[in-house]
Parts: sequence; structure tokens; C-alpha cells
Amino acid sequence: MAQHKGRGSVIWQATMSLDGYIAAAGDDMSWVFQHIDPADPGAAAVPERLGAVIAGRRSFEVGRRDGMEVFDGAWEGSQFLLTNRPADGLPGALGVRAGNIELIIQEAITAARGRDVGIIGANVAQQCLEAGLIDEIVVHVAPVLLGNGVRFRGAEGMRELRLESAQTHENVVTLHYTLEKETS
Ligand SMILES: NC(=O)c1ccc[n+]([C@@H]2O[C@H](COP(=O)([O-])OP(=O)(O)OC[C@H]3O[C@@H](n4cnc5c(N)ncnc54)[C@H](OP(=O)(O)O)[C@@H]3O)[C@@H](O)[C@H]2O)c1
Repeated sequence: MAQHKGRGSVIWQATMSLDGYIAAAGDDMSWVFQHIDPADPGAAAVPERLGAVIAGRRSFEVGRRDGMEVFDGAWEGSQFLLTNRPADGLPGALGVRAGNIELIIQEAITAARGRDVGIIGANVAQQCLEAGLIDEIVVHVAPVLLGNGVRFRGAEGMRELRLESAQTHENVVTLHYTLEKETS
């Protein structure tokens, strides 16, 4: 398991279709709720660990459109929103940020006070992967083929992934990976 002196891990948790999408066409997320059981220990484990989350604007807007709060409102912590657009009309409690992903992650790590930091959105996750900032990836593979939508994303020159566990709950497989630290 990834361990960091004095701070938590940076985790990307996502539900992915068997053909590699995290959202269906039109940012449709209904398939996630059809397949993911909130009582699945694999799905519930990550939110319990988080002290801060960082979401991309697109994920935030889809959640707002669908009337969803972060983790169904059953979670409390620091929330950061990344956007280059004006923050008018956004909830005041959100920490609206733009620019250097490394500095934003550092701020979230501090805000998490020793707990973990969750990443929401593939665009944001890819930036973090490219900068070597992700410590763990937790993917719930849903038994559905979407054919189109928003892709799960990697990054060139990624660090080695180590499979920590693979758990099955009903028809969903949860894969938990840690990323090796870069050695220079
Ligand atoms: N299946 C799952 O588990 C899961 C989880 C989360 C989200 N999703 C879905 O994934 C889709 C969104 O993913 P996505 O990868 O397309 O987008 P995203 O990562 O949610 O958001 C991307 C946007 O965030 C802003 N942003 C990102 N990095 C920034 C930076 N460094 N500085 C300033 N702004 C920055 C930009 O918004 P501006 O255009 O405002 O500048 C950018 O267009 C949605 O459909 C969502 O529902 C699925």
C-alpha cells in the first residue's frame, strides 16, 4: 500500500464500463447507478478515507445537472473545483482553482490534514498522472458496453502499477492499484 510520511495518498477512483468509458454519451451517468451498489465495500472504502476532493468543472456540472452531491452528500471535507471559467453562481464553500496541478494538489493535501485526496474527472486525473501525483487508482469495472462517451485516461511514461487487490461484488469487479514512486 502507498504510504507517505505525514500525508495521505492521492487517489483516483472511477467506475468504468468494460469498454473503457467513465461516462456515456451526453455525460449520461445512469449506468453507474444501475450497476454500483453503494453498500459494495470496494466502492465505499475510498470515500471513508478522504479529507479533500478535487473535481474538474465538467464532472461538477454533470453532478449539478443530475442533482448529485459529492458521494451523495454523505461525506464532509474540503472540496476544490478546477475551472478556467468564472466562478459566478458556484457554492461559496468550494475552493475554486486554476492553473498548476501540482500546486493545487499540494494545497489539497494540506487541507486533507493527513487523510487522503480524491480526484474526480478523467481530465484532472490525466494531468495528475502526467505529473506523477497519483498514488492509487481504484477502478470499478461495470458489466456494460457503452460504445461512446468519456474515456478513462492514462498518461505516457506512467509509473509501474501494482495490483493490491481485486474484489467482486455482484457483477462489479473492483481493482485497486498502487503506483510505484519514480526513482531518479
Ligand atoms: N464514472 C466515474 O466514476 C466518473 C467520475 C467522475 C466523473 N465522471 C464523468 O466524467 C465526465 C467528466 O470528465 P472529464 O475528464 O471530461 O472532465 P473533468 O476532469 O471533470 O473536467 C475538466 C475541466 O476541468 C477544468 N480543469 C481541469 N484542469 C484544470 C486546471 N488545471 N486549471 C483550471 N481548470 C481545469 C476545465 O474546465 P473549464 O472548461 O471550466 O476550464 C476542464 O475542461 C463527466 O461526464 C462526469 O460525469 C465519471
